[in-house]
Order: sequence, then C-alpha cells, then structure tokens
Amino acid sequence: MNLFVKNISQLVTVAARGKTVKTGADMRDLGVLTDAGVLCREGKIAWAGPMREWQGGLPPDVPELDAGGMTVLPGFVDSHTHMMFAGSREKEFALRSGGATYQQIAEQGGGILSTIGHVRAAGKKALKRQTVRYMNAMMRSGTTTVEIKSGYGLDMDSEIKMLEAIAELRSEELMDVVPTFLGAHAVPPEYKGRTGDYVALLVDTIIPYVGRKKLARFCDVFCERGYFGVEDAERVLGAARSWGMDLKVHADELTPMGGAELAARLGAVSADHLEQVSPGGITAMKEAGVVAGLLPGVSFFLNHGYAPARALIDGGVAVAIASDFNPGSCMSWSMPMMMTIACTQMHMTPEEAITASTLNGAAALGLSGEIGSIEVGKRADIIVAEVPDYRFIPYHFGANHVRTIIKSGTILEF
Ligand code: NIG
Ligand code: FE
Repeated sequence: MNLFVKNISQLVTVAARGKTVKTGADMRDLGVLTDAGVLCREGKIAWAGPMREWQGGLPPDVPELDAGGMTVLPGFVDSHTHMMFAGSREKEFALRSGGATYQQIAEQGGGILSTIGHVRAAGKKALKRQTVRYMNAMMRSGTTTVEIKSGYGLDMDSEIKMLEAIAELRSEELMDVVPTFLGAHAVPPEYKGRTGDYVALLVDTIIPYVGRKKLARFCDVFCERGYFGVEDAERVLGAARSWGMDLKVHADELTPMGGAELAARLGAVSADHLEQVSPGGITAMKEAGVVAGLLPGVSFFLNHGYAPARALIDGGVAVAIASDFNPGSCMSWSMPMMMTIACTQMHMTPEEAITASTLNGAAALGLSGEIGSIEVGKRADIIVAEVPDYRFIPYHFGANHVRTIIKSGTILEF
C-alpha cells in the first residue's frame, strides 16, 4: 500500500490537470518527467515529481523500488471486453482465413450464437476459473482495470449467472472490474424472428432484475443490422437508464446505422467500434461529449476497415482504445498490441495511443477522477516497463515489456 518508486528514467504521468478526459492536441501531451519519483500512500498517489524536488525523508514503513532505466506509466484501462466466455472459435478463425466473413459465419449459426451455447451450458465456477486465468495474464501485460460485459447468456438465468460471476470476480480479484449488462448482444435462437418479444423480455424482466440487484454499472446494446436496430436499442437503453445504469453502444461497426448519433442523443458515456461512423455522427459525439471507444484489434482480426481515428481526434472527440477481448472478433487482451495497431493502421501517434489506453479509457468507464493518470489523489495503479522510452511500448510489438505492476500501491512482480 505504501511505496516510493524512485529514480524513474521516464515517468509518463498522462496528467489531466483537473480535466476528466483529453481531446484534440491535449491527447498528445503525456506530461513526461525524467529522473522522477512517485510516492504511494494508502494505495493512492501522494506525490509525483522530479527527484530533485523530492524533499521528504521516508518513514520506515515505506519500501523503495528503484526504477532506474525504466519507464513508468499509469496502468492500462481496458474499457471494452467480452472476456467472460466458454468454448472457443478457432474454427471460425480458420474459415475467415479462407475468405469467409464474420457476418457469413454468424448467418450460418456460428459467431456470437455458438458462444451462447457454451456459456449457457457452463457453470458459474467454470466461467470464473477461465476468466481469472485470462485476467492474470492481462494484468501481466499492464491492464489494471477491465470492463467485462455479459451478453453470452441471452436468457434470464444465464445473463444473471454471468453478472453474478463478474460481481464475484470484482470482490475476489486484484484487478478492478467494471460490469456491463449486454443482454442485447444478439437475438437468442428461441426468439428468432421475434426481436420485439426479446426486447420486451429485456425491458420488462431482465433489466429490472439487474437494476434492482445493482449487477451492472453500464448497459450496452449491439446496434447492428441483423441484431438490434436503433429503435430497439433505444428501448433497451431507456429502460436501463431508468434503473440507474449508464449507457454504452456498439455503434456503426459493420453498417452505418446511426449508432453514434443514438449514443449522442441519449448522452451515452461511450460509443464503441465506429468503423463506419458518419461525419454527422462524429459531430454529434463531440457535441454530446461521448467518448469514442475504438477497438483496433477487431479490424485487424476480422480484416475489415478501421475506425477513422484521425477524423475523430481532429474533430474534437475523446478517443479511447480497448481490446474488445472475445473469442470471435478479437482473441487478444494485449493493450500494447492494440496501441501498435492504432499507430500503424489508424495513424494515431504513440502519445495519443497511450492517452487512449489510460486516461481516456478511464473516462469511457466514468472513472477518470480515480484512475488513468499518475496524479496526487488517484489510485496508485502503475506499470514499470523495462524500456528506455514510452514509444517502445507500441514500437517493439508482440513483446511484453512490463516488469512490475503496482496495484493500489502494492507491488506484483512477474
Ligand atoms: O464487440 N460486435 C459484437 N460483439 C462482439 C463480438 C462478440 C463475438 O463475436 O463473440 C464485438 O466485436
Ligand atoms: Fe464488443
């Protein structure tokens, strides 16, 4: 809980200086200090600055960590995942490598629906066991906060099973977990051709239960052709809001459906994906202050177009990046890998990619007052990376440079 990290070669603070999110040119200001130190007290950051300005002696209960030669950053915030699942979809991966598309596979009964079958059949313990295994590996790659969606159950019992399992992980595991209800991820097979009836089940029965039991911080909807249209999405999100959940939208991924405009109209915290967002959607998001949750790994893995990150950033929208870790559209939890793809394929700068993975990821979860930067009063979630410069993190890709994770001021060494 108490720790002094000293002699840091490069300290990337991502200082927000009172703001809750970074937009435009501010995304390129990482607040880098050289030869710096960070004092963690009671799990929070008590001081951060250049070593030459460090005045205090250390009380005997404060251990020291020498970070000479290292780069220190805020822990990564992975603000969009579907990392609780059962089964796997490597056969679909192989089919896509032979030219099949994600939509074709879904139409033939694969895709999300194949994972639904496995999750419905799995016990809560098994779901938790696999998720913990993935969470531990994720943490080694630098992620200290993760959002996890339900959405592979699609009936009352299985959605609640997922949300209860996520709630248990929240209290049992070191990583911070933010739960999202995604009952509107797909229309389950027993409601095929009756989307309206499934929406009614969500609105009248499942959402009130989730709301009453406080099982989800956010509600999300997959707004897409063949899944949920704008009107259905709005019904689901309206019900969730009335139960106190904040809103997210899987928007404009495969079809420009107006998901970004919907997110803006409803005052959603984030609209995610956005590969097909329209110029009007970008303007609406900027005006409503909706965070754009970009998922570079999905475009890379499904080999479809990338979201227009430059137009979003230059248009004043706050951009976050996340892994979307799931067995279908992105089988990776690596935030450094997402940063590399964001830089090489979406023309984001390394600075923008780091801001998008820390402070703006926190903003996409409504948590940027607590995490996402190394500033006094924030939680001491800190990564020590064995690289001489932060640009190495996206530059030297496919390698894990994280040497030490500090979670709430406690060292976890790997
Ligand atoms: O965010 N787009 C919809 N849902 C997930 C994919 C889930 C799956 O294929 O299992 C996504 O990409
Ligand atoms: Fe997703």
